[in-house]
This record gives sequence, structure tokens and C-alpha cells, in this order.
Amino acid sequence: MAIILIGFMGAGKTSVGKALSKQLGLPFVDLDKAIENKVNMSIPDYFSAYSEQAFRELEHQALVAYQDFPGIVSTGGGCIETPENRELLQGLNQVIYLDASMATIWHRLNQDQTNSRPLADNHSFDQLQARYDRRLPYYRNCSQYCVSTDHLTTAQVVNKIIDLLQLK
Ligand code: S3P
Repeated sequence: MAIILIGFMGAGKTSVGKALSKQLGLPFVDLDKAIENKVNMSIPDYFSAYSEQAFRELEHQALVAYQDFPGIVSTGGGCIETPENRELLQGLNQVIYLDASMATIWHRLNQDQTNSRPLADNHSFDQLQARYDRRLPYYRNCSQYCVSTDHLTTAQVVNKIIDLLQLK
């Protein structure tokens, strides 16, 4: 059964997902990457060509397709924006919310030179904070476990998840 990681942009879903997959010897899928491969376009390009709403539809299809993936699934930060996704996640039992404070998120997003994010790039701290505050209850309601990542290394987060899910 899939172990699904949710959380705001910059919470560490992809890094943790890859490390957890390595540690457990299970496959890993990043839904953003799966979508990019499907449409053969980067997410920022897809957003500007077709809109956020069109992206959310693809994201929903990807979550449905991978809900029973026999490994680790890393989602995009906005996956909980779609009511159908919230309902789907609430029906699962290995959804982990990677929590990080807004200060940590802001720092990590500013450090990240690799990924471009249409809903974070060129946004002010206050704009991002408003999105973060609005989404917070969704992350909480859609997960069965929460790991606070603020002061932990990726390896420590992985160990916490393994403990929580009693996979040792
Ligand atoms: C988004 C988060 C991104 C990506 C897209 C939209 C969001 O994923 O799905 O840019 O709405 O929070 P990450 O959380 O991996 O950055």
C-alpha cells in the first residue's frame, strides 16, 4: 500500500520520499514528475499554457492512478486543494504530513535554485503565508501522521516515518 507524503512546497516531500524509498527498498514516484512526463512539459510551462485548474485536474488523475502504488508517493503541495483528493487521502491510512514552519519554508524556497514553482516564485512572504495558512487545516485533516521537519535532517525524518508506521 502506498506511503503518501503531503505538505507545503519546500517541506521536503521529494527528498524525504527518495531517501525513504532507498531505506525501505521500495519504489518511489513524484507525482509532479509523473505529470511532467505525461504532458511532456514542465509544470510552470503547463500552468502558463493551460492554467492552474487544468493542472489540478491532471494532479487528481495522477493521485487516483498512484493511490495503490506499492511504494512511496510524493505529492505536489497543492494536491489537497482539490476536494476529491482530500476525500481520497482521508480514506487511506499511510498519509504523512511533512510539517514545516513558514520561516523554514521561506528559507528553503529561497535556497532552492533547481525547481521553479509558479505559486511561489515572485510571491511575497505575506502572499505565501496566506496560502500556507489556508492550506494548513487541509494537510492536517488529510493525513494520519504528522512529522515536524523544522529541526530534523532528511535521515531523521525518514527514521521518524519508519517508527510511526512501525516498519522496523
Ligand atoms: C504546487 C506545488 C508544486 C507543484 C506546483 C503547484 C502547489 O509541488 O505541484 O507547482 O500548489 O503548492 P511541490 O510542493 O513539490 O513544490
